[in-house]
Amino acid sequence: MNELDSLVASAQTLFAQSATPAELENAKAQFLGKSGRITELMKGLAALSVEDKKTRGAVINQAKQAIEAALNQRRQDLADAELQAQLKAEALDVTLPGRARANGGLHPVSLTLERIEAIFGSMGFEVADGPEIETDWFNFTALNTPEDHPARSMHDTFYVEGGHLLRTHTSPMQIRHAVQHVKRYRQQIDAGQGMPEIRVIAPGRTYRVDSDATHSPMFHQCEGLWIGENVSFKDLKVVFTDFCRTFFESDDLVLRFRPSFFPFTEPSAEIDIQFASGPLAGRWLEVAGSGQVHPNVVRNMGLDPERFIGFAFGMGPDRLTMLRYGVNDLRLFFDGDIRFLRQFQ
Ligand code: PHE
Repeated sequence: MNELDSLVASAQTLFAQSATPAELENAKAQFLGKSGRITELMKGLAALSVEDKKTRGAVINQAKQAIEAALNQRRQDLADAELQAQLKAEALDVTLPGRARANGGLHPVSLTLERIEAIFGSMGFEVADGPEIETDWFNFTALNTPEDHPARSMHDTFYVEGGHLLRTHTSPMQIRHAVQHVKRYRQQIDAGQGMPEIRVIAPGRTYRVDSDATHSPMFHQCEGLWIGENVSFKDLKVVFTDFCRTFFESDDLVLRFRPSFFPFTEPSAEIDIQFASGPLAGRWLEVAGSGQVHPNVVRNMGLDPERFIGFAFGMGPDRLTMLRYGVNDLRLFFDGDIRFLRQFQ
């Protein structure tokens, strides 16, 4: 092996031993750098004759090209190796099971409210919404419950600043909705042409200072109001019976109207239902308060009680939900325990 062949061979060996690009560049400098072996050989040409320069120069050049080729090859190999290492580090295992996205669901009481709205909607009732922070007027006074009326103590009211209160029932919506409705048809009513009947339900949150297995300080109610010139207690019975049978998907169910008292209805009745079969068979279960709207309340709606008449009811969607699903503690609905709530999806 001549001198130049062994130079090329040692360059190849050194390049192969370089494990990183930095080591490789250092190795390169020993051959091709400013004072590298090839560079020194080139400088030596100056002392030779023109003929010798030609032959010797060609041989050195060959060796130089061989070293450069070895260098480029090694550079490429190191770059490839680095890419492979990176790919391996970032590898995705496409055979792993996917991450499931959890499905949300409606709260059981929301399911009940949707059901109530759909059933009464099919009977021509509108759905109205109103404030949970109420004035004394709408919650009590307009509903025939003056300041000193003993019925006020039936409600353990949460009072808030500014003389307002958290509504203790959805009944204030009777006044709010009726007043708006009457305003729209005022001229027509005054001209003796009557008005489209008021037929509305108002579901929502209500509040009382109360807490045990069947009472929560926040609970739900759904008000119903039907006012016209020809509405009778019979209509209340028909509508409410129909509602209960549809809601519980059972014709094996009877209603009982038990005389009661509310300041804003006269006569008043508590509505109880009884199933003929199933786990609750034979027991009377209270589901709503109801009655014919009191003349003073009709007047506060802006209507003449001699002409307009109707009925109202207020039911407890929380109670209906407990009965429908067989839940025995109301507090479960509001604890937010996902293990309980998941069962209704
Ligand atoms: N507001 C009454 C209550 O909370 C229920 C009711 C509503 C009774 C409408 C009669 C008419 O107990």
